[in-house]
Amino acid sequence: MPGFDVEGTEDEAMGPAPKVLVTGATGLLGRAVYKEFQNSGWLVIGTGYKRTRPHLLRCDLTDEDAIRGLLQEYKPDVIVHCAAERRPDVVERHTEAAVNLNVHATSTLAKEAAVCGAFFLYISTDYVFDGRNPPYGEDDSPNPLNVYGRSKLEGERETLRHCPGAVVLRVPVLFGEVESVSESAVTSLWLKVQEATESCTLDHCQQRFPTDTRDVAAVCRKLSERARQDPSIRGIFHFSAKEQMTKYEMAIAIAQAFNLPSNHLIPLTEQLAASTLRPMNSRLNCSRLELLNLSVEPRPFTAAITDCLWPFTPDKRWRQTVFH
Ligand SMILES: NC(=O)c1ccc[n+]([C@@H]2O[C@H](COP(=O)([O-])OP(=O)(O)OC[C@H]3O[C@@H](n4cnc5c(N)ncnc54)[C@H](OP(=O)(O)O)[C@@H]3O)[C@@H](O)[C@H]2O)c1
Repeated sequence: MPGFDVEGTEDEAMGPAPKVLVTGATGLLGRAVYKEFQNSGWLVIGTGYKRTRPHLLRCDLTDEDAIRGLLQEYKPDVIVHCAAERRPDVVERHTEAAVNLNVHATSTLAKEAAVCGAFFLYISTDYVFDGRNPPYGEDDSPNPLNVYGRSKLEGERETLRHCPGAVVLRVPVLFGEVESVSESAVTSLWLKVQEATESCTLDHCQQRFPTDTRDVAAVCRKLSERARQDPSIRGIFHFSAKEQMTKYEMAIAIAQAFNLPSNHLIPLTEQLAASTLRPMNSRLNCSRLELLNLSVEPRPFTAAITDCLWPFTPDKRWRQTVFH
């Protein structure tokens, strides 16, 4: 693990800027969290694993010694733990590796965060619920339907067991600035929308609340800033966008946003037998965050998804030509 200069600013009048360690900073959410803290003047240390980047550290979080070394060297004030195996089908097939990351690495990080006095923020998922009785409050009983959901729930429990001052932030399906459209279940619909020559069926049963990673990142920063002042900020919080959509409805919205045909998109109103069960509607009640004024107004879906997908249009000047 090479030493490197953490990015951020130091204001003499204000003292040193607080330091945040973002795990999974090469991933979909971690990239947005990294950027959000950096833009707010924090010193940011980001870790990745297989995708190396010049400004990030490479660290295998399943290696306990590597975690200890990382925290001893950088002594963060805050840790935002985004690294996880979050693809349910992959977790089903490679359960041991996924549990090592989603549960054991989380457990080690939580223990070490408690030792070094860092505020620990663990990112979790609405998949801890079975989706049969929405909306779900922070105190409702989880009942995950698949191994991924169970591993994230275990990660939550390890977090709160070893680091009682920690926060667990549950979020639903995410999209954001992607390196390839297949990186998110939401942006990957772009491929279906573009296959206009062939009819294409899309799920119209499972209700989802696609949420922009930039909004989640802003909530992570607000939670971290408040928790450093107020130790009563601990336990479980929910954050979600408000627009309820099936995959079919998301694809229609994408087609409309880009003035593309949508006649080939067919809603599938019956559940197909799937190898990995997923909740029908795990809508999150986010009132705890809202009551504490720690929430942000979620971006409208159409505007946010347009932001994310326009770099993948054949003419990348699409945005300028259409809007300006
Ligand atoms: N994406 C969603 O729709 C969604 C929905 C709800 C909740 N969440 C939760 O949000 C969090 C962030 O998810 P995401 O979508 O950003 O995931 P992601 O894009 O798949 O990124 C996963 C990150 O974990 C890192 N990682 C994988 N194996 C590692 C290892 N052994 N050691 C260290 N780092 C490792 C990856 O690094 P490399 O790529 O460099 O190997 C990558 O940075 C997760 O906790 C997930 O459960 C995600």
